[in-house]
Amino acid sequence: MKVINDVRDMRRWTERQRLAGRRLALVPTMGYLHEGHLSLIRLARQRADVVVVSIFVNPTQFAPNEDLDRYPRDFERDEALCRQEGVDAVFYPSAQTMYPPHYKTYVITEDLSRVLCGKSRPSHFRGVTTIVAKLFNIVRPHLAVFGQKDAQQLIIIKKMTADLNFDIDIIGAPIVREADGLAMSSRNAYLNKEERQQATVLYKSLQLARREAEQGNRSAKDIKKKMTALIESAPLARIDYVELVDTQTLTAKERIEGETLAAVAVFFGKTRLIDNTVLNL
Ligand code: PAF
Repeated sequence: MKVINDVRDMRRWTERQRLAGRRLALVPTMGYLHEGHLSLIRLARQRADVVVVSIFVNPTQFAPNEDLDRYPRDFERDEALCRQEGVDAVFYPSAQTMYPPHYKTYVITEDLSRVLCGKSRPSHFRGVTTIVAKLFNIVRPHLAVFGQKDAQQLIIIKKMTADLNFDIDIIGAPIVREADGLAMSSRNAYLNKEERQQATVLYKSLQLARREAEQGNRSAKDIKKKMTALIESAPLARIDYVELVDTQTLTAKERIEGETLAAVAVFFGKTRLIDNTVLNL
């Protein structure tokens, strides 16, 4: 397995793979890999001949008051896990490499990036789309895999890919959960014991939404009220949002019909957790 830090080296390496007729998959990550990431890598493996994992804690997607400095990092462990999963190359650039001094160019996907997580994190998706566009240009993969756990991110990246004519298939991978239902996330590492126990309310609220919808409740207002009450029953939970939105436009739904994204964001102390499920009626 190659570990590549330099943009030109990465380009040369992937160019050789393309010339040899190999299908290339990119799995973009911020490292501190867990089972969720490994499932993305395995999916990439099934769909491509060559798998590149990028590991880069992207500063532009963190606001100044967010957790960039304390974001967990362990490159040695990540490298070993990638090796174990049969990854062909890890792209591990420095912040200086990706954002040299006087860096000026950003990619913005309008509207979709202002709702849900974009309301409390207004510059977040600008950072995500910028770094993903840069990675697409450097690696030039045939396909790229992202987790459904970050549903809004996945929808925005699909839109950016279509709008900017990247010839790349964007694949969404199912959410991987702990035994008690908590969606896997690098940020779970911040939770203390009580927060960790109470964090299961996110998934429970989504299961409640599913049950209500399947039993014929079509009122988004009523389902959101019930989800909110359930989350608020956890004393340490502070709701950022509970939303039922259209899976394409991310606009709020009044009636639960067709495909609906049920999405929640909840703080436990300083840690903000997100989760979602798609209701298909
Ligand atoms: O989902 C993530 O880990 C990040 O947002 C991504 C896509 C790697 C961009 O930094």
